[in-house]
Amino acid sequence: MEIRKVTAMYLSCTGTTKKVVEAIARSTADKLGAEYAVFDFTLPKARESACEYGAGELVICGTPVYAGRVPNLFLPYLKEKIKGKGALAVPVVLFGNRNFDDALSELRDLLSAAGFCTIAAGAFVGEHSFSEVLGAGRPDGEDMKKAEQLAVLTAERAKKIPESYLDDQNGLCKKKQTGDVLADFSVPISVPGASPAEIYYTPRDRHGKPIDIRKVKPKTSEGCKAAEGCRICAEICPMGAIDFDDPSQIKGICIKCGACIKKCPQKAKYYDDQGYLYHKTELEEIYTRRAESTVY
Ligand SMILES: Cc1cc2nc3c(=O)[nH]c(=O)nc-3n(C[C@H](O)[C@H](O)[C@H](O)COP(=O)(O)O)c2cc1C
Repeated sequence: MEIRKVTAMYLSCTGTTKKVVEAIARSTADKLGAEYAVFDFTLPKARESACEYGAGELVICGTPVYAGRVPNLFLPYLKEKIKGKGALAVPVVLFGNRNFDDALSELRDLLSAAGFCTIAAGAFVGEHSFSEVLGAGRPDGEDMKKAEQLAVLTAERAKKIPESYLDDQNGLCKKKQTGDVLADFSVPISVPGASPAEIYYTPRDRHGKPIDIRKVKPKTSEGCKAAEGCRICAEICPMGAIDFDDPSQIKGICIKCGACIKKCPQKAKYYDDQGYLYHKTELEEIYTRRAESTVY
């Protein structure tokens, strides 16, 4: 199938998903001689309008893994505003060296439900949003080699899909008989994880009691340069939750994505909630082994 355009589409609060998804999309576009485009829906403004992809387009769609799933507050956006009328897609998730659980199968299912034909997939390791130790420096050179493998695989598979598989009516890949080979390109790519996705991973304290960090918000130290006009944290908050006039005020929902903590040049944002800190330390202590990135 001829692909005219490859789009890197992603949510990426601390930049790891962006790095992997852009690399895969750029390389795939190159291999297919297609146009390369970027659609970053991390900031609220980008999520205001709907987005439609059609036949001859390929979308590399990435999100981070939160609690073993696609970040739940972004589900309404993904379900209602993204449509893939016959476009091909590659679901990609970034996880912080623990596990991606049902996130990849969930993203694959979301894309299928939106009308995309998923032809490949990948789960990659990124530095954990809560930590500078867990998955430190990931994605690294080895991960980026896997990203390149996924680009090769995606380009090969896209080329193999005959134009005749495109249905004029709804644009979806259909089952057709080609010689003695029966291929079904409408079957979603097979990935690990439950379908439909099942449980959200729950952090627990030393007594096994669930730790609820949903209402936890970052604090601001005296190093903050808001008085001198710095508004970086308010500008990069994916939830638009930080007050522009007084960035020490968190007026909206905090998803603990780590953007304001990791991107503050003064290191002035921090969490002091005991449950959050216990969970962060526990993750850092348990998940010291190297989790690998995998392509499907
Ligand atoms: C609220 C929250 C929950 C997370 N849950 C998981 C998880 O279940 N498993 C895991 O390995 N990493 C988890 N992470 C880490 C992120 O998936 C990881 O750091 C990812 O690379 C961040 O992507 P980004 O840099 O594009 O924002 C979580 C991060 C956050 C903020």
